[in-house]
This record gives sequence, C-alpha cells and structure tokens, in this order.
Amino acid sequence: MLELSPSLLSADFTNLKKEIDTLNKLDVKYLHLDVMDGMFVPNISFGPMIIKKLRPLTNMIFDVHLMIEDPDRYIENFKDAGANILTVHVEACKHLQRTISHIKSCNMKAGVSINPATHPDVLDYVLDDIDVILVMSVNPGFGGQKFIKQTIEKILKIREKIDKRNLDIILEVDGGIKTTNVQNVIEAGANLIVSGSDVFCDKENKIREYKEIFKNYKKD
Ligand code: DX5
Ligand code: ZN
Repeated sequence: MLELSPSLLSADFTNLKKEIDTLNKLDVKYLHLDVMDGMFVPNISFGPMIIKKLRPLTNMIFDVHLMIEDPDRYIENFKDAGANILTVHVEACKHLQRTISHIKSCNMKAGVSINPATHPDVLDYVLDDIDVILVMSVNPGFGGQKFIKQTIEKILKIREKIDKRNLDIILEVDGGIKTTNVQNVIEAGANLIVSGSDVFCDKENKIREYKEIFKNYKKD
C-alpha cells in the first residue's frame, strides 16, 4: 500500500464537517487525528469527544496519533470514539509492550511512534507485536514545521528491519511533508504519508498531486 493520511490539525476547525465531506469526495482513505495533551507536547488539540462526533461523517480509517503522557489511561475512550489505528509514543509509555497489548485487546491496530532524536532500535523488541510505526520527521506539537532531513536514514533503517523479518507493518511518516519532498520518504520505504499544512492549503489540487506521485510507486 501507499496512502495519504491528511492531518486534520491544519483543517478549518470552524467547519470540520465541510472539511471531512471534501476529503470523502476526494476518496481519501485515512484521516490523521493529532491528540495533544499540553504535557508530552507543548500544545493542546482535541480528544476523544471530538473524534466521536466526527465518526458518523465518514468511513475513512481514523489514524489517531496520541501525543499524550501515559496513554493507557484513555485507550478505551479512543476505541469508543471510533479510532481504527491508535498510535502511542515510545517516549510516553513506561511499559510499552503492555500498552500495545492493551490497544490490541480493544481491537484496534497498534502503532508506535518515535521522535526525531529517538533511536529506531527501541522498536526491536516490539516489532513482532505492532501494526504501524510512525516516524516523526518534526518534533511533535505543531503543524507547519520543517522536515528534519535525518529522518530519511531512519526510515531506511526501519524499512530494513521490517523487511528482514518479513513483517506486515505500515511505515508512516509525519511532519513537514510536502508534494516537493514526499518522493524522498517513499523511496526510503514509508508507505503511509501524513501531510497537514501542505494538503489543507489547497485540498483538491494537493490531494490530486499526491495521488499522481503515488501512482509512480504503487505496486498493489
Ligand atoms: C505534529 C503532528 C503532525 C502535524 C503535521 O505534531 O503530529 O501530524 O499535523 O503537520 P504538517 O504536515 O504541517 O507538518
Ligand atoms: Zn501526527
């Protein structure tokens, strides 16, 4: 697979229904939902209550990115809100393996995210248990930041780990992605692409452009 997961963080929050209707019309498959608690990251966004309100508006896969401390406290709430993928940060979990099991016991796909300064080897002992790896290509907390170029090497390393064990893990990249640099992360091995500010500045045209680029790489 190779898909786009537009980040709702850059949407018009006074008109979320309209924003989602547009993404539906453009046949977008994933929706990236950034949850921030003001503790793990220096910003506060929205939580399960808003996500639950959005759930009836679309069949898009809800790709929920938790940037919160001690996420175990809220796993059931996000299940109840309609999350399909629930991604936690390795830096925010004391017992990562337990958190992953907890997410899977709630019948959601389990994702693990790593910050730009975190070494990809932290994933080694959970690799067999997870469905998604989310590589942060900016320090989490805000949309519209500049892509950190060392991410490319990290994606290459993680892609190698996944393929070596022949695992079916989605490799997602998030932060500073634009139509002008997305080729680099795809070629390094990413197959779920988050884009916020770049997509929402001109949804129709940008989504069409991303799809055109993806066509050159898609095998399935
Ligand atoms: C940052 C969030 C991202 C953000 C991406 O903390 O996790 O998902 O919305 O936005 P852009 O694509 O503008 O960097
Ligand atoms: Zn995100």
